[in-house]
Amino acid sequence: MAKITEIEDLKRIYKRRTPKMFYDYCESGSWTEQTFRENSSDFDLIKLRQRVAVDMTGRSTASQMIGQDVAMPVALAPVGSTGMQHADGEILAAKAAEKFGVPFTLSTMSVCSLEDVAENTTKPFWFQLYVMKDREFTKRAIQRAKDAKCSALVLTLDLQILGQRHKDIKNGLTVPIKLSPHTILDLATKWRWGLQMMKTKRRSFGNIVGHIDGITDMSSLSVWAAESFDPKLDWDYVKEIKELWGGPLILKGILDADDAEMALNVGADAIVVSNHGGRQLDGAMSSIKALPSIMDAVGDKIEVHLDSGIRSGQDVLKALAMGATGTYIGRAFIYGLGAMGQHGVEEALRVIHKELDVTMALCGETKVQDLGKHNLLVPRDFYGDWA
Ligand SMILES: Cc1cc2nc3c(=O)[nH]c(=O)nc-3n(C[C@H](O)[C@H](O)[C@H](O)COP(=O)(O)O)c2cc1C
Repeated sequence: MAKITEIEDLKRIYKRRTPKMFYDYCESGSWTEQTFRENSSDFDLIKLRQRVAVDMTGRSTASQMIGQDVAMPVALAPVGSTGMQHADGEILAAKAAEKFGVPFTLSTMSVCSLEDVAENTTKPFWFQLYVMKDREFTKRAIQRAKDAKCSALVLTLDLQILGQRHKDIKNGLTVPIKLSPHTILDLATKWRWGLQMMKTKRRSFGNIVGHIDGITDMSSLSVWAAESFDPKLDWDYVKEIKELWGGPLILKGILDADDAEMALNVGADAIVVSNHGGRQLDGAMSSIKALPSIMDAVGDKIEVHLDSGIRSGQDVLKALAMGATGTYIGRAFIYGLGAMGQHGVEEALRVIHKELDVTMALCGETKVQDLGKHNLLVPRDFYGDWA
């Protein structure tokens, strides 16, 4: 078996083993993909301060996110259609997260349902909610998340209207796959993926089919999915959702200090500084560049998490040192899942954990909580002087 030493190794195997339309679905940003690229390249602009002759023994990456113990402050982000990247993908990723001691977030647009993931895991996971026009669906989804004993609700705010990803349109992306000469040719070389898919019954959106009136098969679902996100979502409705849920609430997709203030005002427990991995507003700032102004605005009043662009433990360390208390990985765990199923997600977490731990030591720190700006060299014009 190939030796995995970095996330890039998993990505190479993932690309070989997964049908092109799902690889492209994951590995793309909206329009020109500028924000998608800068999410990662902006991490490179920040340098680490090497410190020496510091006792590096007894290191720990253990921390807390929204009051819950985590082995390292790196959660698995909600990723729609994860069960198409690998058969039973959400269950496998949740098991890997559970084994590692980090949170798993199940997307509304998952293949394995809330109930299915709950039945196949032993620890509470987080549920990510998309607000649909059908408000009864939203209410029921919240109740189902409570029944499944989810320990946090992650409400995503940045995808009420879909950013265009060219590749998905050109590939004719569907869940499940619709067979065409093109896809048949592609699948011929992805036999492992196909065999596993044939063995599972989970092949459509498990949180939706059967849970919305009139949605009983997938052909009507594809039309429904494109038209059902609610563009009327506003802060009043966020408040209502908070009341309905009644538990820890994380607001995801905050990229602006004014919105961070709004999130604070509605009483969220945490925010995720995120641009949806560059999949929505192309031309928006990378998450790591947006973080300082948000920290200035609300950093001492609410827990601030960050995602978008994290591909290594060094990236995690930079986000933490800039003030975030939690991070999420999306694509980095999907690469592992598509490459090797549950074991691949565990490998992704192991790689990132090791990088975080060793980099922390080389920076002269022994605990993630002690990381701060003193560990970084940030260019004076990093944030930019914007009019
Ligand atoms: C293929 C794919 C599907 C996604 N689906 C969802 C989703 O269903 N809900 C959601 O809130 N975010 C979704 N996201 C965004 C992720 O939660 C996260 O914000 C993003 O992946 C972070 O960037 P990274 O992939 O560079 O780590 C998705 C991201 C990807 C790559």
